[in-house]
Amino acid sequence: MAKSKTVYFCQHCGHESAKWLGKCPSCQQWNTFVEEIVEKSAAAVPTWKSEQPRGAKGNKAAVLHEIDYREEDRILTSDAELNRVLGGGIVRGSLVLVGGEPGIGKSTLMLQLALQMPAAKVLYVSGEESEQQIKMRAERLQQSSKANCYILTATDVQEIFRQVEEVKPDLLIIDSIQTLYSQRVESAPGSVSQVRECTAMLLRFAKESATPVFLIGHITKDGAIAGPKVLEHMVDTVLQFEGDRHHTYRILRSVKNRFGSAAELGIYEMQGSGLREVSNPSEILLSQREEAMSGIAIAAMLEGVRPMLIEVQALVSNSAYGTPQRSSTGFDGRRLNMLLAVLEKRLGFRLSMQDVFLNIAGGLRVEDPAIDLAVIVAVISSQQDLPVPADAAFAAEVGLSGEIRAVNRIEQRIAEAEKLGFKTIYISKYHKKAVIQGNHHIQIKAVGKVEDIFGDLFG
Ligand code: TYD
Ligand code: MG
Repeated sequence: MAKSKTVYFCQHCGHESAKWLGKCPSCQQWNTFVEEIVEKSAAAVPTWKSEQPRGAKGNKAAVLHEIDYREEDRILTSDAELNRVLGGGIVRGSLVLVGGEPGIGKSTLMLQLALQMPAAKVLYVSGEESEQQIKMRAERLQQSSKANCYILTATDVQEIFRQVEEVKPDLLIIDSIQTLYSQRVESAPGSVSQVRECTAMLLRFAKESATPVFLIGHITKDGAIAGPKVLEHMVDTVLQFEGDRHHTYRILRSVKNRFGSAAELGIYEMQGSGLREVSNPSEILLSQREEAMSGIAIAAMLEGVRPMLIEVQALVSNSAYGTPQRSSTGFDGRRLNMLLAVLEKRLGFRLSMQDVFLNIAGGLRVEDPAIDLAVIVAVISSQQDLPVPADAAFAAEVGLSGEIRAVNRIEQRIAEAEKLGFKTIYISKYHKKAVIQGNHHIQIKAVGKVEDIFGDLFG
């Protein structure tokens, strides 16, 4: 009988150590090491076809140009947002991790996916909810009648694979990876070695049976997929489901994707009857307003390859206390400070004694530098209490010397602004002549410095 071996795992990044450590040398987190038993004495617990030899021809190296290649056929779901985030549908044999904070709607999204595929047999495995609870949720989603969806409440991987062999699903959904356990590993469900072992088995199953597998994973406060960062390396695609729980909008973001762009984004609205796709995000991201108000500027930004217009709101007021406050929601705080310093130094706006609040409408978090220009316009508009024309949009990065810099895919941004009825768009003058003088209905104003823009906007 083999002796069981214990090792210590960092629950944050999965770093392995023979002894306990206070600080993880890999991710620098404190107090994250937990002892886990990795070898079980009775090793003869079956796994997914683990006893079978590898394919008849063995595993030989092959010349690249001799490898058979078919355009990978993808399974299209009826959820257009999900299809796009996945890079054009579900790839057969892929392992997809859907991460998100508790209560954000991961189970709802996956159950909805399961119910919207009448042509495919789906096995939804839940280790968190009972069959009745799932049925109740399905009733709420009002799609339960025609779907070919099997529900299994189990947490033992071996048992799940037995059911998989019986049901032979076209798609397997696991809710959640942190509840699974394998008898081969002795540590508790949710620990690094369990999560790693179970994911490895599911990965082997996905590849050998060409069945796509979706894993739901809970995320810790700081945004890491709970503990097991290891998971991210093993799976083909990592999707992050995020949003403000107090807002109804949810964003599905692809963080890693072996089969498509890793910058894709889908937007949903959480309603009483489940998640609804939002196919035209600009409409929800621009608040309905009758007249132009100060402190608001519209940015033409890109998320992945998708252009959208978004409202940047700023409030500048005299500081009541000695230290002025700077607060930004949805936009990098350090970048805001940099832009304020540019306004202060290059344009002489006295912002150092004023509170500045910045907010990106709709609860979205934006990293596209092209919204810089809208940010500074919104700040100045609020400070001067002069409204920006409601039909003007902005798309440019601002440099440290106040220069207005070109951004990528400007044509797409212009086209989106034009489509939504904007009359003017401010861009950098360093774009190609063809872009600036192109044939558009929208008026293009190409500017080189921030100074030039304020004269034009506020007179
Ligand atoms: P859930 O999918 O259980 O979240 P997760 O699996 O990520 O923990 O979703 C939980 C929230 O969604 C819950 O607060 C209720 C809300 N919800 C709706 O608003 N409408 C619905 O139709 C459903 C099913 C859930
Ligand atoms: Mg859930």
